[in-house]
Amino acid sequence: PTNKTFTMIKPDAVKDGNSGSIIQMIEAAGFRIVALKKTQISQQQAGQFYAVHEERPFYEALCKYMSSGPIIPMILEKENAVADFRKLIGATNPANAEDGTIRKLFAKSMEANAIHGSDSDENATIEGSFFFSGTEQY
Ligand code: CMP
Repeated sequence: PTNKTFTMIKPDAVKDGNSGSIIQMIEAAGFRIVALKKTQISQQQAGQFYAVHEERPFYEALCKYMSSGPIIPMILEKENAVADFRKLIGATNPANAEDGTIRKLFAKSMEANAIHGSDSDENATIEGSFFFSGTEQY
């Protein structure tokens, strides 16, 4: 069935001028862009977004990093969207990312790993509505 996932191009990839290449890869892989914008969030908003990681040792650094520059959040639609998108972006640690994945091509480190992808349908909905209202999704 066709469903949705949520992604954001992270500050490192936006800063490096890799947004266009990444969006091209996403569309070439068959994802339809439902919503897209460029924005910057505060450390507190990043804390809300990543609340599931609150207890993890990397939480504070992650929230600082995610608020350090502009990001490009998107809602995407495709058959099997969540799983297929995680395949396209590759492993969280770029050292483990397979050839041809977005993180293999553009990520620099575990933290500055170019792009986020939701890990479940439920989180895709929660994360998408964090950034986009109903009238911003087509
Ligand atoms: P993301 O898919 O956006 O979800 C949480 C983010 O935390 C992850 O990508 C990484 O960028 C970041 N992170 C930093 N350190 C770690 C770690 N040790 N394990 C998992 N994620 C980490």
